[in-house]
Amino acid sequence: DPEEMLESRAPVVTIMGHVDHGKTSLLDALRKTNVVSGEAGGITQHIGAYQVQTPLGGLVTFIDTPGHAAFTAMRARGAKVTDIVVLVVAANDSVMPQTVEAINHAKAAKVPLIVAINKIDLPDARPEKVKTDLLQYEVQLESLGGDVLEVELSAKTGQNLDKLLELIQLQAEVLELKANPFRLAEGTVIEAKLDRGRGPVATVLIQRGTMHPGDIIVAGAEWGRVRALINDKGESTDGAGPSVPVEVLGFNGTPEAGDRVAVVENEARAREITDYRSNLKREKAAARLGA
Ligand code: GTP
Ligand code: NA
Ligand code: MG
Repeated sequence: DPEEMLESRAPVVTIMGHVDHGKTSLLDALRKTNVVSGEAGGITQHIGAYQVQTPLGGLVTFIDTPGHAAFTAMRARGAKVTDIVVLVVAANDSVMPQTVEAINHAKAAKVPLIVAINKIDLPDARPEKVKTDLLQYEVQLESLGGDVLEVELSAKTGQNLDKLLELIQLQAEVLELKANPFRLAEGTVIEAKLDRGRGPVATVLIQRGTMHPGDIIVAGAEWGRVRALINDKGESTDGAGPSVPVEVLGFNGTPEAGDRVAVVENEARAREITDYRSNLKREKAAARLGA
């Protein structure tokens, strides 16, 4: 639609890398130091995705996926949520099997990499070895004449975390990420669970449009009416636009990670779509049994 009102949106970043190279530490460190508008008590609502402000003034959305399996599963279902992969490589360990896997995932998804050489605080850190080891996998860093952005950092001491955020913003500017915030919302379920008190709770990354309380929503074979939207600080919000992660309350059943979420015009349309998908699911199950 040429009439679409496109506005720039925050980059959505997934952190990948070998086991114990510091993915969770990095996510936690970034969350603590830079959560948008700060946090007095330091109690962070963990919703599996959050936004931070970069030193250059932009926003970055981090998705805290449980790892490569989730990334692959989402891609297999056609969900493209990540704009940039930050590849964490421990400077004392260098390139390991899951580092290579992550490189391959990013290449297959045509998502640019930023290499974060972590644990630079350790006495046995060998960042230069990491850089040359990566060449074997066709990842040529800027310092070796290539075009892959890189930063040496420590999730433990916080050294160069701000540099990483700057690089993400610079990479995002090259990508010219845009979306229309004014249409009916669409997005992807990052994770979902059935909460005892609150019922089905889905963490959704909004990708186009803006979601509001009261919207009729469909995800996979589930539908509902948005009862509340909870942001990454645990606060209720009136609207979530492109690249914003929110907890969505109000689904009648629990959708699945990777399900596309869409706001539809009315309940009748929501029932029509989800009835069709439920029937399809049943037919497929029956066909499997019959085979
Ligand atoms: P998995 O989720 O199990 O794959 O690991 P991970 O990649 O999330 O690594 P995690 O953040 O759990 O860190 C693994 C270990 O490395 C922990 O003991 C961290 O404290 C330590 N660690 C992480 N980052 C740094 C760092 O910058 N410096 C040092 N010295 N240790 C670090
Ligand atoms: Na670990
Ligand atoms: Mg971890």
